[in-house]
Amino acid sequence: MATAVKIIEVALRDAHQSLLATRMTMDEMRPILPAMNEVGYYAVECWGGATFDACIRFLDEDPWERLRILRKEMPDTKLQMLFRGQNMLGYRPYADDVVRYFVQKSVANGIDILRIFDAMNDARNLQTAIDAAKQEKAHVQAAISYTLSPVHSNEYFAQYAKQLEEMGADSICIKDMAGLLTPKAAFDLVQKLKQTVKLPINLHSHYTSGLASMSLLKGIEAGADMIDTAISPLAMGTSHSSTESMVAALRNTEYDTGLDLKKIEPVRQYFAKLREKYLQNGQISPKMLGVDANTLLYQVPGGMLSNLLKQLKDANKEDKLDEVLQEIPRVRQEAGYPPLVTPTSQIVGTQAVLNVILGKRYQMVTKEFKAMIRGEYGKSPAPINPEFAEQILAGESRIECRFADTLSPELEQLKQQATCYTIQPEDVLIYAMFPQIAPKFFETRKQKQMGVDGDHVDYIQKSHPI
Ligand code: CO
Repeated sequence: MATAVKIIEVALRDAHQSLLATRMTMDEMRPILPAMNEVGYYAVECWGGATFDACIRFLDEDPWERLRILRKEMPDTKLQMLFRGQNMLGYRPYADDVVRYFVQKSVANGIDILRIFDAMNDARNLQTAIDAAKQEKAHVQAAISYTLSPVHSNEYFAQYAKQLEEMGADSICIKDMAGLLTPKAAFDLVQKLKQTVKLPINLHSHYTSGLASMSLLKGIEAGADMIDTAISPLAMGTSHSSTESMVAALRNTEYDTGLDLKKIEPVRQYFAKLREKYLQNGQISPKMLGVDANTLLYQVPGGMLSNLLKQLKDANKEDKLDEVLQEIPRVRQEAGYPPLVTPTSQIVGTQAVLNVILGKRYQMVTKEFKAMIRGEYGKSPAPINPEFAEQILAGESRIECRFADTLSPELEQLKQQATCYTIQPEDVLIYAMFPQIAPKFFETRKQKQMGVDGDHVDYIQKSHPI
């Protein structure tokens, strides 16, 4: 029997991550939080993913303080975060003690729902985060990184979902970061998952290829229980379907969300003004707002595409984009078809760029690509050709175990290293994730607190996380 579809509003996390490189500040969010709290969303996704990185690297904002303010200003709404399994909010696998501590502090500071995913869909990389979140009594939403390849069948995804259910997940998310889900594929996959697991299903599909609203609707018809949407001024393009449109589409049907468009209106008005500002100052490029059909051809997420363009521009090789787009599927196949999402999207993309601009494939191999082939990011979805692995690893052996099992506890050491900077227990986690840039962040924060203006340093963003 169909029930009301639950809406997760993503304006404060994925929408601005997708459209304006995660640069929305707390000052920009704060005035509208009480009105958002009134709407009655099932949850507001507001933290995790790239927000932490942007706070430290670009905004000189304490991400933990941001979370506490979000909690205070939205007391009646569930707060949701995105968590990259063993990689936490960073780009490499961490030891279990750090992962546990991060989850514990996230919940203690206000998170209700953790959406946890692994780029490889290796369930072992979710285990520690899931256990820790269960221990903190948080809702665990385990996410499937959706992708297309000869091995990624609905059967494959259903078996993965079953594993996640057995591990203790409270709900399952289909995370379609590139907007590859077609309406029919969405229907079939949701149906298959509903037949396989007893858990609620959340559909997350980026609008990049222009399909998302149709896919959400078909997914709902197949039984999806919740969908991610963005308030209309921050919707469409590389972001998500618009909240108001989906609320209206489902009204007076058996899936009626129960949300009142009149209560959403002040939120829309507020973000419409912000959108104008972002368009004027260039933070939102009109390019991000259209339909990008390349995504359907090359299966490359929108954020990854802009990243590749930037890397090629820096190397004065913009004319090589087509070659790189053709190289990516080859690299991905050789690497065993990893889904392209942080951090694998950056790893595969950078290697493809190197293969093209150096003129000889794998003449240079990045440290991260080597680690991925070695198995440090998890088991690849398809087996890797042993000869190829040998060529990349040059004598080093591959690992079959969960990589984190080879890591010694690192929290105590990190605490010691960070001790001269920290003013709150959570600071060690900032340091753990960004050891190079954290000291500068801590210094600027200290100067601000002392009322002294620190020199502003612009860091060059290496890559745009997806
Ligand atoms: Co997303």
